[in-house]
Amino acid sequence: MQIDVKIGRIGSEADTSVIIGLFKEEQLGESDGASMEPALHRYLRDVLALGDFKGEDQEVAVLYPLGQAPPERVVLVGLGSSGEFTLETARRASGVAVKRALKLGVSKLSIAVHGPGARDGQDGPDKPGVPGGPDNSEVSDVSGAPDDPGAPGSAFRDCAQATVEGLLLGAYRYDDFKTGGDTDRSGIESVAVVTPQRAQAYEIRDGVEAGRISAESTDLARDLSNAPGNAMTPRKLAAAARKMAGETGLKCRVLTRKDIEKERMGALLAVNAGSEEPPRFIVLEHGEASDGTDTLVFIGKGITFDSGGISIKSSGGMEEMKHDMSGAAAVIGAMRSIALSKPSLHVVGLVPATENLPDGRALKPGDIISTRSGKTIEVINTDAEGRLVLADALEYAERYNPAAVIDLATLTGACVVALGHAATGMMGNDGGLQDRVRTAGETAGERVWPLPLWQDYHDQIKSHIADVKNTGGRWAGALTAGAFLAKFVERPWVHLDIAGTAYTDSSKPYCPKGATGVGVRLLLQLVKEWKS
Ligand code: BES
Ligand code: MN
Ligand code: ZN
Repeated sequence: MQIDVKIGRIGSEADTSVIIGLFKEEQLGESDGASMEPALHRYLRDVLALGDFKGEDQEVAVLYPLGQAPPERVVLVGLGSSGEFTLETARRASGVAVKRALKLGVSKLSIAVHGPGARDGQDGPDKPGVPGGPDNSEVSDVSGAPDDPGAPGSAFRDCAQATVEGLLLGAYRYDDFKTGGDTDRSGIESVAVVTPQRAQAYEIRDGVEAGRISAESTDLARDLSNAPGNAMTPRKLAAAARKMAGETGLKCRVLTRKDIEKERMGALLAVNAGSEEPPRFIVLEHGEASDGTDTLVFIGKGITFDSGGISIKSSGGMEEMKHDMSGAAAVIGAMRSIALSKPSLHVVGLVPATENLPDGRALKPGDIISTRSGKTIEVINTDAEGRLVLADALEYAERYNPAAVIDLATLTGACVVALGHAATGMMGNDGGLQDRVRTAGETAGERVWPLPLWQDYHDQIKSHIADVKNTGGRWAGALTAGAFLAKFVERPWVHLDIAGTAYTDSSKPYCPKGATGVGVRLLLQLVKEWKS
């Protein structure tokens, strides 16, 4: 999808469809007269006067001006009340609007940035207004250098980013395995983001670029996670990471079984023992360690299929366990977005990857295994495999002396019981880091919610025969899993349990059924806000 920023009045071009977001109150203000093509403005005033379109959050209506105004179609989308506007409103509005446009077979779209004029909104500052008229009444391209590059946190830039994220993410389809599936999945060829003011155009262009990077990286994570287990083995996951690294200039190292043995990653090897597919340990690196530059390490659980192993899962819904590498997908997607955004930070992505299958050689309940550092684990349940492979990865991360370690994992069904699909569960050992992660998630539209790691949960995973056991009984399963991970990390650390947020069984405003790509935008936002 080609996206250009253009200066002019929205709706000036005859052969396009336009998306227009409207608040519940003051649907068309006086200022819109300056930013909208005059005939379209008059037409919309008349239509809205009928009162059918309320401007409710995610409400959509399609209008056909047929000679009364230049556009072929107008897709109206509600933004809800302007006092409640957030960047998430903008993403959702774009998402539902683009889905409707796709259904209609639209290939050329114009859109105005949603919401920078919202009043009292959490993310939208005071209405900037549109002083004077537009620079010119015809739509023209933005070229040349900005006089004043968008200030960080600018409403136009942030709203443009969210608007574009909603567009691209809402247009996502996974049809790699549909015969005759389209290569250009979106069907929408070009989008013009139209603004009346040259000064805003540069901020908007920054936002569009940032939105494209975050959405396309989220789509990469979705693709990896949606791929079935037979198409996304550890080797294929590693190949995908390597390909992405080659395209973006990241360093990439893939440890094979021999290397993993040399590293003494006993837990990763133990989980892999029941699989015919060899394990991989993927290392992606942006920038390098230096004095005065913090290192952040992101770790993603990469179980490319989780059958439970000898503690085999029941068959109902087991196919969803192809998504058990969604943490890995998030880390690979985030590393792509970081490579393209070029922050002056050292960021390392680690992915322990294996299948979890039952076999004559498989790990058994009661087995005792040792991790990289020599700590021993009594395996009570082979289906609690994610924490095993993460233990080795967390210990591996220590070598970078990181300022923060963040792991993402579809770790426990218990986390889904606790929070449902509404938020990612967050645990950790550092309140300050947890606050930063929570804020980044809020901004990125990927909510996380804190859960405790009290001594009680550590007590539940004491083993009488080894240093720790891998399950803690029936209660507080998300938290005993978190307590288990805590034993393998010394540095400031956050654990994100994405079991409830990594995929969805119903279509969402900017995500169809399947993998959501959760984590990519949060990690990118965290990196952008990070001060060494
Ligand atoms: N991958 C699963 C967790 C999961 C469950 C993710 C549902 C997404 C949706 C994990 O490996 C697992 O099987 N966890 C067990 C742990 C238990 C055996 C202590 C679980 O949650 O049942
Ligand atoms: Mn499992
Ligand atoms: Zn699992």
